[in-house]
Amino acid sequence: MSAVLRAACAAAFSSLAACAGEQSALDPRGPVAESIAALWWVLCAGALFILLIVMGVVFYAMFRDPDRRRPVSPTAVLIGAGLVFPTAVLTALLIYGTAVGRAIIRPAEQPLRIEVTGHRWWWEVRYPAAAGRPEVLTANELRLPIGVPIEFTIRSVDVIHSFWIPNLGGKVDMIPGQTNTLRLAATQAGRFRGQCSEFCGIGHSRMSFVAIAEPRSQFDAWLRARAEIASLDSNAGLGVFVDRGCAGCHAIAGTAASGSGAPVLTHFADRPTIGAGAADNSPESLRTWLVDHGRTLKPGSLGPARRELSSEDVEALAALLEQLR
Ligand code: CUA
Repeated sequence: MSAVLRAACAAAFSSLAACAGEQSALDPRGPVAESIAALWWVLCAGALFILLIVMGVVFYAMFRDPDRRRPVSPTAVLIGAGLVFPTAVLTALLIYGTAVGRAIIRPAEQPLRIEVTGHRWWWEVRYPAAAGRPEVLTANELRLPIGVPIEFTIRSVDVIHSFWIPNLGGKVDMIPGQTNTLRLAATQAGRFRGQCSEFCGIGHSRMSFVAIAEPRSQFDAWLRARAEIASLDSNAGLGVFVDRGCAGCHAIAGTAASGSGAPVLTHFADRPTIGAGAADNSPESLRTWLVDHGRTLKPGSLGPARRELSSEDVEALAALLEQLR
C-alpha cells in the first residue's frame, strides 16, 4: 500500500473515531437522537452521491478526448441537471426532514418535567415537586431515568444560550423572555456531556454539564437524596460563607444562605464537576476556584474575585463545600 493511501486511510479512520463518545450526535442513546443521527447519515449520503456525480461530470469534461465527447444540448442540461434533478432531490429530503422534525417534537404521555435555565455561564436545573416529593433545585448536573420521556422547559435569564446533549437529542435555544420545550428520552445508561451551543460570551466554551442516564430506581433514589438537607449546625465555614458575602448569590438549602444569582450549592460535593464543567470536582480544583472565584479555571467567571480571602477562609469554605453531600 502506498504511503499516500495509508495516510488517507489513517485520516479517514481517525475522523470516524470522533463519531463516538460522550458528546457525539452520531453515537445516539435515545430515540430522538437516533432519528437525528439517521437524518444526518441520509443527508451525508445524499451529499456524497451528488458530489460524485458532479466530480464525474467535471472529470469527463477535463479529460475526455474532445473528438470523442458526445454533444449534449445545453437546454437539456439546464432542464435536467439544473431543474429536475435538484427539485427531485431537495423535495425528497425536505419531506423526510420535515417528517423527522415533526416526530421528534411530538408530546409524550406523562413525561418527567425538568426545568433548565441558562445563566452566564452555568445551568440552573429544577425538578418540580411531584407525588409527595418536594422540588429539587440543583445546578450543572442532570440525571435522567432510562425509558422515561423527558420534557425540558428551557429558559434564559440573560443572553441567548442553547441547551444540547448530543447523544440524547437535538438542541434548543434558551432565549430571554421566552419559554421553549425540548423532548427526548434515554434508552441506555451512560454519562453524557451537555454543552451550550450558542456563543454567549467569554465563558461559553466552559458552559457544559454532565447528564447521567440511569435505571428508574437509581434515579428515584438520587432525587430523594437531593431532596434531603445536610445538617451544618457545627460547620465553621458557614460563618465565613455568610460573612464574606457568598450567601448573597449562592444558596444552601437549610441555611440562611439563599442567594439566587449563582449556582445553588446544596449537595455541591456530589457534583461531578466544578464551574459548569470547567474542572473535575476535586479538592485541588475547589481550592483553586475559591482563591480567585474561578478566574483561573474559567476565564470570564462573573463572580467577584475574592482575593482578600485568607488561606484560612479558603480552607474553611472548602471544608464546608466538601461537606455538602
Ligand atoms: Cu451559554 Cu454559550
